[in-house]
Amino acid sequence: MTDPSFTPHSDDRLVTGGASTEEREVEAALRPKNLADFVGQHRVRKQLALVLEAAKLRGATADHILLSGPPGLGKTTLSMIVAEEMGAPLRISSGPAIQHSGDLAAILSSLTEGEVLFLDEIHRMSRPAEEMLYMAMEDFRVDIVVGKGAGATAIPLELPPFTIVGATTRAGLLPGPLRDRFGFTGHLDFYATEELEMVIRRSAAMLDMNLTNEAFSEIASRSRGTPRIANRLLRRVRDWALVNGLASVDAGAAASALEMYEVDSRGLDRLDRSVLEALCTKFNGGPVGLSTLAIAVGEEIETVETVAEPYLVREGLLGRTPRGRIAMPAAWEHLGLKPPEDPSSDGLWSLLPEGAGTVETAHQHDPQGSYMPQEDTEGMLFFDDQD
Ligand SMILES: Nc1ncnc2c1ncn2[C@@H]1O[C@H](COP(=O)(O)OP(=O)(O)OP(=O)(O)O)[C@@H](O)[C@H]1O
Ligand SMILES: [Mg+2]
Repeated sequence: MTDPSFTPHSDDRLVTGGASTEEREVEAALRPKNLADFVGQHRVRKQLALVLEAAKLRGATADHILLSGPPGLGKTTLSMIVAEEMGAPLRISSGPAIQHSGDLAAILSSLTEGEVLFLDEIHRMSRPAEEMLYMAMEDFRVDIVVGKGAGATAIPLELPPFTIVGATTRAGLLPGPLRDRFGFTGHLDFYATEELEMVIRRSAAMLDMNLTNEAFSEIASRSRGTPRIANRLLRRVRDWALVNGLASVDAGAAASALEMYEVDSRGLDRLDRSVLEALCTKFNGGPVGLSTLAIAVGEEIETVETVAEPYLVREGLLGRTPRGRIAMPAAWEHLGLKPPEDPSSDGLWSLLPEGAGTVETAHQHDPQGSYMPQEDTEGMLFFDDQD
């Protein structure tokens, strides 16, 4: 089975939402420590504040909390804030680290009252551990199995009340019974550019960097709605300023630094741009099958599909149609190219459902079911709606 969190070629990219181990250490220093410092996500923040406040007023342990959303948007950060706000100790583990129910039993049985247990990538926990977690979350009890085979007995163990904070990038993979046991579910969305500016402003102050207002927005607009990428680009700009002997960074300097790292004005990197360029220049805007497109840019199919495409689709630059990938009007514009024909005529874009060009519409299932798996132009199966 392939690892669902696996993203090919994503570690060496500046604009990936994921993080390497070293980066996670650097990041720890920039994490906001309380809800007030946590930028954006107003709805989730407000709801979470209410959940925590109410628990404190009742003098009880907070309900279990599930945080979902793409990498780098602040799930780990929020889980730490939950513990901080509750004044409770925090224990950290993750789905992949809990492969046997015994691993989970060991953690659960050592929790103290009110403790917050953060389970990262909770969708990757093994099935037996998951079943043990159901009972622990609902009844604060685990059955410790002693012995094997016919002689095995289950010894029930009462647990003190605790709070599970689960985080997942793939909420859809969580089994219903597990999802239902969380009293509060918060879904984190991509950040607006102004919110990312605030994130960068805060980080710059902590890193003792001097940037103009325009430099903040220059970096923010290249950060793909993701605080992790924003902080990463800021650190690259810092390196560039240091090497070039700049005491203060203005928009021009920030742009030059990021151009040097091949992150363009919309946050596209070399891979994204080569996919778009191939689509526009080699295939006249498509439709072209995914595998042909991947060969044209010299990448694996999976890399194009899971690394480059999601953001290109989200930005309305690339469309997925039953007949293959097409360049959207914004793609031609972004690359400074002239589209082959008038989009208002019976051109390429008529392949998309009406009003397409945004993520929602590009992903819509049309009534004729033409978004079902289709033969792509090379006779290979592709699924239009995979992510
Ligand atoms: N709302 C926010 N305000 C300020 N900084 C933030 C915010 N959200 C995230 N960050 C910063 O972005 C970085 C990544 O956040 P975090 O590790 O919480 O993401 P995540 O959702 O847990 O990602 P992953 O899915 O990869 O585990 C952290 O360094 C954190 O400081
Ligand atoms: Mg995390």
